[in-house]
Amino acid sequence: MSAAQADAEKTADRILDFDLSAELNHGIVVSNLAYAVASELGLEQESCYELAVAGMLHDIGKLKLTEYINGRERDPLLIEELKYVRMHSTLGYEELKDQGYSEFVLESILYHHENYDGTGYPDNLIGDQIPIGARILRVCDVFAALTSDRPYRTAFDVATVMELMIDEIKNFDMEVFLAFQRIIHNK
Ligand SMILES: [Fe+2]
Repeated sequence: MSAAQADAEKTADRILDFDLSAELNHGIVVSNLAYAVASELGLEQESCYELAVAGMLHDIGKLKLTEYINGRERDPLLIEELKYVRMHSTLGYEELKDQGYSEFVLESILYHHENYDGTGYPDNLIGDQIPIGARILRVCDVFAALTSDRPYRTAFDVATVMELMIDEIKNFDMEVFLAFQRIIHNK
């Protein structure tokens, strides 16, 4: 099992222990990185700002998810929990769609767990079917998660994270990943 998959499963294990400050910190890191990568890729200034907003809000569906789970039986099987976790991008989109956010922000959030090879969720989009904002968030999200401490492990160092991400390069848009690498190495 890859580190990212293990992370996803641990997230499922821990979903009932939603940690708001950790989630907010994660949002801030993703927001800053997404802005920098969008700039590096030459997106319009307005889009860069919008992606910073999307980065801050991308996991907001997890808040709904905890309400959803806590309103039900407390003993869901892991498979059930995984199903709920996989709903968070759609729940976030649903929560925000009537609140005046642009389509660019909304679709970046809805598709931030799509993989470039078509193995992601919610819609198994492939390659350029995935909106550019979501392809950027995907890379920044994985990096931010792996470089942070989790209740069940300490943070990986940047060099290790880069190796882990290259092992799973199939998940990412190569052009986005290369821009991201330039940002990280210039920091
Ligand atoms: Fe997410």
